[in-house]
Amino acid sequence: MRRHEEAFRIHCREQRDTQLGHACAHPGLSATTTSPTGPRSHPHGATMRHPGAPPLPSPQPRGACAMTAVGRQSGGRGRRAGGAPLRLRGRFPGSGAEPGRAGCAPPGMVSKGPLLRLLTAINRRRMKLLTGLAFVAYVASVWGNFVNMRSLQENGDQKVESKIEEAVAPLREKIRDLEKSFTQKYPPVKFLSEKDRKRILITGGAGFVGSHLTDKLMMDGHEVTVVDNFFTGRKRNVEHWIGHENFELINHDVVEPLYIEVDQIYHLASPASPPNYMYNPIKTLKTNTIGTLNMLGLAKRVGARLLLASTSEVYGDPEVHPQNEDYWGHVNPIGPRACYDEGKRVAETMCYAYMKQEGVEVRVARIFNTFGPRMHMNDGRVVSNFILQALQGEALTVYGPGTQTRAFQYVSDLVNGLVALMNSNVSSPVNLGNPEEHTILEFAQLIKKLVGSESEIQFLSEAQDDPQKRKPDIRKAKLLLGWEPVVPLEEGLNKAIHYFRKELEYQANNQYIPKPKPARMKKGRTRHN
Ligand SMILES: NC(=O)c1ccc[n+]([C@@H]2O[C@H](COP(=O)([O-])OP(=O)(O)OC[C@H]3O[C@@H](n4cnc5c(N)ncnc54)[C@H](O)[C@@H]3O)[C@@H](O)[C@H]2O)c1
Repeated sequence: MRRHEEAFRIHCREQRDTQLGHACAHPGLSATTTSPTGPRSHPHGATMRHPGAPPLPSPQPRGACAMTAVGRQSGGRGRRAGGAPLRLRGRFPGSGAEPGRAGCAPPGMVSKGPLLRLLTAINRRRMKLLTGLAFVAYVASVWGNFVNMRSLQENGDQKVESKIEEAVAPLREKIRDLEKSFTQKYPPVKFLSEKDRKRILITGGAGFVGSHLTDKLMMDGHEVTVVDNFFTGRKRNVEHWIGHENFELINHDVVEPLYIEVDQIYHLASPASPPNYMYNPIKTLKTNTIGTLNMLGLAKRVGARLLLASTSEVYGDPEVHPQNEDYWGHVNPIGPRACYDEGKRVAETMCYAYMKQEGVEVRVARIFNTFGPRMHMNDGRVVSNFILQALQGEALTVYGPGTQTRAFQYVSDLVNGLVALMNSNVSSPVNLGNPEEHTILEFAQLIKKLVGSESEIQFLSEAQDDPQKRKPDIRKAKLLLGWEPVVPLEEGLNKAIHYFRKELEYQANNQYIPKPKPARMKKGRTRHN
């Protein structure tokens, strides 16, 4: 074998000398076992074959053949004879060999090349087409999803927005109220010199009449102190003055003594509507008796003038019509209304006792039915009852046949009368009311018409001790005070209806504010007074 190989090598050397590029192969040596680089390697990387080996196909062009041998010899980078590196670009079609590692294609595959190339090209196109189609389908599905999601989202967004709007509306209202209270703008106030400006105490000043009186006296430029235990009054009635330099609000019960310096006292503290004063009759009596004593004591101490807000109820169920100030009244001293009626009668008695005995300046206003904004909703009085029932579409309830008469004055008229009386020299009682008399049924029909309500009128059994007739004789007030009511009934009713409507809306939008409770009438209950 050795000898055989030796002979083969000699043969190759001879061939090198004569025929460059001749391919030699020893039968026992594979084409890949050509000698490594070095002086003995084939200058063009030609493969050596043994003479006995099967004949090679016709010699490859130099460049093509060089791809095989040189690639192997020099790790993928061949060298020309002169040492210049051989670039191995491309590969044999269909061989799958990497550039630089390529080998010569087997002879059989040469003829398959174009076919393979064609197939590959077709496959590539098909692949490209499929890939393109897949891509388009993908994009379409993504776009569809996106469009669906957007429409769903838009619908959802609209629903959520309307829900949010519903929830936010009352909050917005509240913020507006808060902003209003922060950037407080007070109603215009007159400037009064020190000499003309009075320090005025209003007991019950957070109530219906008291808050309107507060407005009037503040706007006239006086210093006003409101004292209230908020039994039936509320801060909202005077909140527009809170923080003003002329205004003071004190939470105090007049049943307890009070020590402040004042020039005038308007003593209004007392529940005024039947359900409220009947709720706790003993407290009503205390407020009207002990409370009035305390205020008279204060007036005496500081030399102030006191005006008592008395009532037409001192006439009871009157036997004279209309009632003038000389009429002594017709009151049941043990009836359900006695705590109020007799409480006010004894309060008047106290006033004149203090006047005669202590020289306290007193004024007594006998107030007849009054109505207007800030009056209590649900307090059981005729006007508020009818307005609320008409606004809420409920039946207007008339107790008895509806023929009993009432005369209602608008609150601004009353306030003007109170101020006129306070600043007058009239120390005897004066009626303040509107003499325009109407039956209860007429009131019901008028309010129904002004509200534009379809409510029916319902007749219920008569209330105990309900006065049949009530009409003030106001000749004294006209004569001595130059006062008489000026606001027509319908105009006043329209203002009250507007207020009640707003209040109902306010309550609906502010659920955190407790709705007015029904009339407080818990009889026979033991409680601390
Ligand atoms: N409104 C009318 O039609 C009418 C008619 C006749 C007489 N009056 C008299 O006018 C005055 C005011 O009546 P109104 O309609 O404004 O009633 P109102 O209930 O609205 O006001 C009374 C005020 O007095 C307060 N008060 C009650 N007890 C108190 C106490 N012990 N200490 C401190 N504050 C107390 C209440 O909290 C309320 O703010 C009352 O004295 C009433 O008797 C009113």
